[in-house]
Amino acid sequence: MCGIIAYTGPRQALNLLVDGLHRLEYRGYDSAGIAVQSPKGQLHVEKQVGRVTELARKLPAKVPGTCGIAHTRWATHGGVTTENCHPHLDALERIAVVHNGIIENMGPLKARLVAEGVRFRSETDTEVIVHLIAHFYDGMGALGDSVSPDAAGDPVVALRSALARLRGTWGLAVIFADHPGVVFAARNGSPLVVGLGEGETFLASDPHALTPHTRRVVFLHDGELARIDTSGVQTYRLDGASKSHTVDTLEQEWGDSSLGEFPHYMLKEIHEQPEALRQCLSGRLVVEEGTARLGGLDLGPRELVRLPHVTLLGCGTAFHACLVGAGAIEQLARIPARAEIASEHRLRNPVIDPEALFFAVSQSGETADTLGAVKEVQVKGGQVMGVVNVVGSSIARACGRGVYIHSGPEMAVASTKAFSNMVTALLLFALQLGRTRALSPLQGRELAVALQDAPSLLRAYLAQPGPIEDAVRAVIGAKMVLFLGRGASAAVAAEGALKLMEVAYIPCVAYPSGEMKHGPIALLEPGSPVVVIAPDDGLKDKTLSNLQECRARGARIILIYTEGDHEAAALADVAIAVPRSHPLLSPLVTVLPLQLLAYRAGLALGRDIDRPRNLAKSVTVE
Ligand code: AGP
Repeated sequence: MCGIIAYTGPRQALNLLVDGLHRLEYRGYDSAGIAVQSPKGQLHVEKQVGRVTELARKLPAKVPGTCGIAHTRWATHGGVTTENCHPHLDALERIAVVHNGIIENMGPLKARLVAEGVRFRSETDTEVIVHLIAHFYDGMGALGDSVSPDAAGDPVVALRSALARLRGTWGLAVIFADHPGVVFAARNGSPLVVGLGEGETFLASDPHALTPHTRRVVFLHDGELARIDTSGVQTYRLDGASKSHTVDTLEQEWGDSSLGEFPHYMLKEIHEQPEALRQCLSGRLVVEEGTARLGGLDLGPRELVRLPHVTLLGCGTAFHACLVGAGAIEQLARIPARAEIASEHRLRNPVIDPEALFFAVSQSGETADTLGAVKEVQVKGGQVMGVVNVVGSSIARACGRGVYIHSGPEMAVASTKAFSNMVTALLLFALQLGRTRALSPLQGRELAVALQDAPSLLRAYLAQPGPIEDAVRAVIGAKMVLFLGRGASAAVAAEGALKLMEVAYIPCVAYPSGEMKHGPIALLEPGSPVVVIAPDDGLKDKTLSNLQECRARGARIILIYTEGDHEAAALADVAIAVPRSHPLLSPLVTVLPLQLLAYRAGLALGRDIDRPRNLAKSVTVE
């Protein structure tokens, strides 16, 4: 989704900003723009619909200036047009603003500004911000309310006055032509991080954009403003009082985010799963005691044993991992556990038991709906912990405690290795919790050993993935693909459908296989592809009955089954074997062919694999 990068220092800003934009590309966007303060006291702005490379191509060879802001836009208000690209300028072109987030009261604010004579050049909500700042910067009369008289000519006061009138979410970077070398920033619900260099300072919406330059960072908090210059950062509260801040150090070993020999990040990340899984397990299994230890939770057996129930919150792929995790917690700990879509949970005024435990599951740690759910649980006195990949992300910090899943950088919009590590982290928790209850040392040890061996199972499958191309041929021309599975495999079915939809743009429907006859069966006609996930996990026979029901209607069956299960394989048109695993671990192996199917189908259809249309890597709007 939208990305921000800004720079002030002794170096020429242009190329640094373009490089920064490239590092934000993986988040998904549709246009990009840049503003540089020229030494002559003007703002040089360039914008382009499409990729950052297209913007770079359009830029003049030199845009002199050592301070600037830049943005990748993912359209919310207004179409994908050059006019709607950020940065946006005030009428006199002295102030430039880039913005991540959404201004909810754009309508009434715009109406008042228009009534004052302001002419808007775009359809965006962001343009309201820049005109509002200009309004106060010029010390003009208030928009129907009182204005602080000292706002004129003071960027911080003008910014504060403008922000006080906004409703919604923002991560903002602002430059003024008459304040050379200074970038102003503000955060409310959309992340911003300041990077402290030697005599130069950066600002970004994503720490990943800062790592080539510095690892010393200051995370801005909601409701904060910042003034950034070559010597560092000064932070303020919205009421104007200056605030202290802490300097954090970004992790050294975040991992390799280059493509290497792979043609796409998605394929690279699929193949990284065995190693990512090993990282997630590392130091967390206590095989001899048949348990796991998740230090970041800081919950001892006496606290764990008192938990009445567990709720797992997430969106998209993370939600599918929650479904698997909830099933495993119920199985092993015999307490109620449920998974819920974060955007639903946060807005339905949920009943929160302060004794219970909530998990917020997120790769990026920035998903607005999940972060909103965290805040809602906290407001109601609940205890929520993160299951997060990106260290220091908003969700990780809002939760304070939790489990890092250690997937390393996931660049493809379609999440793959984060899914397997979320599932693994939740299985580790289920094991630890289970051992405080009925789970015996022997049963615990069996699962701990299975988890320890999981990376080699994944590696074995990826070395021999089976007839994926046959499956691709069955789905690429289809009107619709139905995915079926039971128990944890129902969650894998949902994940497989999501992957194929987002990467290949093929309509998919996922159902728990028992539900199929209650409706989706009406979709089947001769040749309809149905993907059935039926590992040998105790539920298989019932799933195979549903498979038969599909076959009876002429459906083409793509079966994911446990190797050696010849009886099951014989029922399929395309049979893809995965290695035998502990039943609770089957999602880790059954999801792999579905990831490869989505990748290969996307490739066959000429899709933009790593940046599918309309999607964003971190969804920072609600
Ligand atoms: C997964 O392939 C999707 N791109 C998407 O559903 C994603 O999982 C979802 O937006 C949640 O993201 P998060 O894990 O960063 O919170």
